[in-house]
Parts: sequence; C-alpha cells; structure tokens
Amino acid sequence: MRIQVLTIFPELFERFLQASLVGKAIEKGVLQVSVRDLRDFAPDRHRTVDDVPYGGGGGMVMVAPVWLRAVRALAGEARPWRVLLSPQGRRLDDARVRELAGRGDLLLLCGRYEGLDERVRELVVDEEVSIGDYVLSGGELPAMVLIEAVSREVPGVVQLADSVTRDSFRSGLLDHPHYTRPPEVEGLRVPEVLLSGDHAAIERWRELAALEATRRKRPDLLGQARLSPAQRRELDRLGAAAGAGGVAGSRDS
Ligand code: ADE
Repeated sequence: MRIQVLTIFPELFERFLQASLVGKAIEKGVLQVSVRDLRDFAPDRHRTVDDVPYGGGGGMVMVAPVWLRAVRALAGEARPWRVLLSPQGRRLDDARVRELAGRGDLLLLCGRYEGLDERVRELVVDEEVSIGDYVLSGGELPAMVLIEAVSREVPGVVQLADSVTRDSFRSGLLDHPHYTRPPEVEGLRVPEVLLSGDHAAIERWRELAALEATRRKRPDLLGQARLSPAQRRELDRLGAAAGAGGVAGSRDS
C-alpha cells in the first residue's frame, strides 16, 4: 500500500509515522508513506500557498495553481486515488476505510480549513472525506486518522487477522470488554468465565458481552448489524431485563 501526503505541515507526521503499528508496517515495507511539503511547489521564493478571497471576507484561501502542480507532480506513472480531507466530505466509517485500503495507492490532500480554491476540488480531487461533523484547523490530523485506519487493513500489519475481523464494527457490533491481571481491582472482579479455561464458554460470553455493550452504548448500530436469530433472542431478553422491550430493526444474517 502506498500513501502520499501533501501538506504545509510535514513535520506533524514525523513522529506519527515512526510509532506503533504504522511505524512497524513502514519498517516492514508493507506500507509506504511519503509526505511532501506543498510549499515546495510554490513558484515564488516566499513559497506562498494562499491569497485573499475573491469577494472579500476574512481568512485566506489556498491557491489552485500550487495544488494542481503538486498533485500532478506526484501522480507519477500509476495515478493515485486523490482524497481531500475536509469537513464537507463523506463521513469516514469502517466500510469506507476498507474501500480506500482496497485502492492501494492514495494521495491525501491536507487543506487548511479557511479554504482551498474550489477549482482544486473540481479538477484533481476524486473523493472528499470527513472524519466527523466538527471542524479542525486542517486536514493533517484527519489524514493521520485515515492512514492509521487504512494501514490496519493492509495484510501483515495487524498480526492476527482475527483481531481485525473481531474488532468493533466489523461484525456491526462493538467489541466485548477486555481484562488482564490482577483478577480483582478495587473490589471489581474479572468475570469468572474468563478464568475458567473453557474456551467455548469464553467465546459465548464474549459474543454476549459484545451484544450487551452495543445495546447499552450504541443502540443505533443494532439496526444495521447482521444478527443471528440467537443473537436477536438474546437482545430481546436483555431488553426485557432492562425493561426496555425488544430491539426494533435487527436483522438475521
Ligand atoms: N479538515 C477540517 N476539519 C475536518 C474534518 N472534520 N474532517 C476532515 N478534514 C477536516
């Protein structure tokens, strides 16, 4: 997987790209990330990348020619899929992460939020992606979010394929709770079944706990989740126990 990044703050990416799973993936060579300073593509010696907005008003707008030159210079032989990080984009979720990972070659454009000349979007952007309905000062943190999420999909990055498929959202449900030593913390004991060594029972407990956590914390996900009839019965039971009734909209797989 190859990811190129265009930004006026390349230094923000340095530590991020060295740490944790992303750093290991780069070291292993299964992920290739290069970060380019947009200012390298400015024509003047002040390396100017913005100008005052037509129509007036506050803030500056990033100029189109610099972006166009940069994007085209980085396109190379194989044209990467060009993604602009912007709060106006489609919201990132697990399905979109997998879709982007599947493209194999991404160019991430990090605008500063005051604005980017609209013609950049029109001429060289394939897709606009938002990481949520709030405004950050620029696309750099969203680009890091995207790099980390996408890199988890690259074969060989997460050691146990199983731990990716079990993660929250892949099944449409949240993850089950996790525990490690010591067995008791301030009066709270680890659920006994996890100490039992009975793997089938542990698996059943985890499935139930994931269902229960989703019902409690993110009931909105249940409408989309692929639930087996047994899971649906269990949800109804949990709902009845909580005095909340069954869960509407849950589906069989
Ligand atoms: N740039 C500024 N805010 C953003 C957001 N929420 N998502 C993606 N890019 C952004």
